[in-house]
Amino acid sequence: MLVRLLYASRATGAVDHDGMAAILKKSRAHNPAVGITGALCLCASSGVFLQLLEGGRGAVSDLYGRIAADPRHHGVTLLHYAEIGERRFGMWSMGQVNMARLNPVLLLKYSETPTLDPFTLSGATSMALFDELVATASIVGQG
Ligand SMILES: Cc1cc2nc3c(=O)[nH]c(=O)nc-3n(C[C@H](O)[C@H](O)[C@H](O)COP(=O)(O)O)c2cc1C
Repeated sequence: MLVRLLYASRATGAVDHDGMAAILKKSRAHNPAVGITGALCLCASSGVFLQLLEGGRGAVSDLYGRIAADPRHHGVTLLHYAEIGERRFGMWSMGQVNMARLNPVLLLKYSETPTLDPFTLSGATSMALFDELVATASIVGQG
């Protein structure tokens, strides 16, 4: 029984390289034992996080609850949740989407302005945007 969950949130303060590295380190240490895979994206200019989690329903639900209570971000907003037959991010305990390689045209494709603002997008559109982010921006950091 697998599920996929996508949420967006706003970083509480500026997240520097070390801040992002700490989140990824914790994720990569914790997620394999509970069967969570996924990818995390931070748009540094807008301070918006976008994270996709996949795994068993209980494990995803537990982790989402923990993440939502983390003071490093706020405004945690569920964008998409679905039962799935198979994982898309099975090779990443938590991949990092490399926003430096992002083409702004992709953001314009789905948004009113070329900024990452998933709070204004539907669940289906934000999922489509995330899929394209991953396909075009590339994932860095091994899981
Ligand atoms: C944007 C964001 C994404 C996170 N993603 C994960 C994750 O995928 N896995 C994880 O274990 N913790 C993640 N965390 C950290 C958790 O919120 C929490 O700090 C951590 O799980 C607590 O672990 P501990 O009880 O072992 O200290 C994330 C935090 C933030 C701010």
